[in-house]
Amino acid sequence: MTVEPVGFRPGLEGVPATQSAISNIDGQRGVLSYRGYRIDELAAHSSFLETAYLLIWGELPDPERLRNFQHSVQMHRRVSFRIRDMLKCFPAGGHPMDALQASAASLGLFYSNRALDDPEYISGAVVRLLAKIPTMLAAFQLIRRGQDPIQPRDDLPYASNFLYMLTEREPDPLAARIFDACLVLHAEHTLNASTFSARVTASTLTDPYAVVASAVGTLAGPLHGGANEDVLAMLEEIGSEDRVEAYLDGAIKEKRKVMGFGHREYRVKDPRATILQQLAETLFDRFGHDQMYDVARRLESVAADRLGPKGIYPNVDFYSGLVYRKLGIPTDLFTPVFAIARAAGWLAHWKEQLGANRIYRPTQIYTGYAERQWLPPESRSSDNGSPTG
Ligand code: ACO
Repeated sequence: MTVEPVGFRPGLEGVPATQSAISNIDGQRGVLSYRGYRIDELAAHSSFLETAYLLIWGELPDPERLRNFQHSVQMHRRVSFRIRDMLKCFPAGGHPMDALQASAASLGLFYSNRALDDPEYISGAVVRLLAKIPTMLAAFQLIRRGQDPIQPRDDLPYASNFLYMLTEREPDPLAARIFDACLVLHAEHTLNASTFSARVTASTLTDPYAVVASAVGTLAGPLHGGANEDVLAMLEEIGSEDRVEAYLDGAIKEKRKVMGFGHREYRVKDPRATILQQLAETLFDRFGHDQMYDVARRLESVAADRLGPKGIYPNVDFYSGLVYRKLGIPTDLFTPVFAIARAAGWLAHWKEQLGANRIYRPTQIYTGYAERQWLPPESRSSDNGSPTG
């Protein structure tokens, strides 16, 4: 089949690269929906596992299906001692996203019986990934602090169990509920960079562990999931409300991006940022205020005048770090926690991609040399651009 080339759009901006029924963004109105359900409704009423089921299987589960799904995920939380030993070999100073990417990929070694046309294989892989990613991440956290990882608790729901494995304390129910809502909010977001990466990898018909590992690697960058860490660093650097204007003016003048602001899809405030802000306030009311929240609110208000006219408003990362910090999650786990949630979306896209697969193979506009003749080293000029001159 001959395909006519279309015009070049850097970053594929505005170019449809797939058809998908999983989620939708109305960037003008600031509305995000999963399978037709608005994110604010899901964050208020649904759980992360129910939302994951919705994303992956297309419908909200009836009570029996939900119970079975929750039970399966609970039963697969433990990881092999070999994975724990592998995590012990990782440098303690390494970034947890790298540990997560490596451990997600390593699952492919343990479950190598790829059978992409077998529904049981698909559901087994979904359950395994959702169940084991939090365990592996919490294990890495304890190991790098010089401790032994603790086993998951079968009696705790998904979000509580993760916080328990991370902090070794059973979390307050409100904190666990808020963390679960954060997972709902981060579970899916149309064809962003990591999801695109997941779909490209899926399109080669490789295993789902490689799909998730490639998406984790993509999410790690500061222009994507990594921005939530940078937001807290930025707020700490600003330090107090009275320094916000000077910081913002400096950033705009020097053309530095203000972290946690801007989104390719939204021209208004990201609806997830609005909900996360409410969750942050609920947490602060219950567990004590965070002064950085005042800095964040002041920054949002000053930026509304200076960046708002360009359609640049807070995105999901702006308030999530403040919530995670209050929940006792270390800063460099913010993006891995994002990955725990987004695994649901990646798996939904994996399944959807398999349902109508065509390998991704875009074209390029070649900007290099026309044909050249090879010369032996002694005949080449010295200004050939090599690093040694
Ligand atoms: N601060 C200041 N100016 C900004 C910001 C920002 N955060 N974001 C965009 N702009 C400006 C750009 O400087 C540019 O201005 P110009 O036209 O005068 O040159 C204009 O807005 C368009 O910016 P682009 O970078 O082309 O917008 P794009 O849609 O490609 O970028 C992105 C989206 C990458 C998220 C960008 O807004 C950004 O880098 N934000 C900061 C990092 C961040 O918060 N990332 C998390 C995104 S959410 C997520 O991935 C989970």
